[in-house]
Amino acid sequence: MAARIRLGVNIDHVATIRNARGGVHPDPERAAALASAAGADGITLHLREDRRHIKDADLDRIRAATDLPINMEMAAAPDMLDIALRFKPETAMFVPEKRAELTTEGGLDAARGHNHLADYVRKLKDNGSRVSMFIEPDPVQLLAAYRMGADITEFHTGRYVELSLAGEDELAARELARLRACAKEAVKLGVEPQAGHGLTYETVQPIAAISELTELNIGHFLVGEAVFVGLGEAVRKMRLLMDEARGVSVT
Ligand code: PXP
Repeated sequence: MAARIRLGVNIDHVATIRNARGGVHPDPERAAALASAAGADGITLHLREDRRHIKDADLDRIRAATDLPINMEMAAAPDMLDIALRFKPETAMFVPEKRAELTTEGGLDAARGHNHLADYVRKLKDNGSRVSMFIEPDPVQLLAAYRMGADITEFHTGRYVELSLAGEDELAARELARLRACAKEAVKLGVEPQAGHGLTYETVQPIAAISELTELNIGHFLVGEAVFVGLGEAVRKMRLLMDEARGVSVT
């Protein structure tokens, strides 16, 4: 039986709602505590250049609200590196960042970014963080991430989710096969394979069933569901679906 798969809860969009009014509510710190209590295994946050959701002052408060490991998504930029070196997230994840995008649109071009990224990877690892790269399920990108010393690669599930929700079953199955093959290849290389982006109750199980994957990072859907059922309930249900997909007995 495949081991239990971890759930990293991305709390960015709690901060998006807070920032819509410029006040303090809803507080991502409280979201981190609630997600922890509901069975999350990690907290993911993205400090974007435009600070549209998580802000600098949130970092230490979120750290204090949970004992869970923190996965900090970041662009490969000098000011972000300084913040990450001070904050020391358990994982620093490089994502591509475009100002006008609504969310992280595609994976990192690790293959072309080698010269720029390799130095960042080394500094963060020397400082005690594990380094992850958010990439498309593409063997070329995986190999580039491995060669740069990435400990983890998170494979982008956005395309799989879109195809699956659009009823494009054949194309979705092909994308799922790409994700599966890359997860296997990552293990062979000694890189820990994770996945995420866009996952919902409806789409999570085929991904969670890929036995090589160790963690899924899920945010927008959970925060959306939290409006209706509360964050704790949304996290518990996602956890349950992931466990079910792995055949892990739930007590
Ligand atoms: N992984 C990465 C690298 C992301 O940038 C995001 C979105 O911030 C997620 C996972 C979570 O995606 P979603 O919010 O669509 O669940």
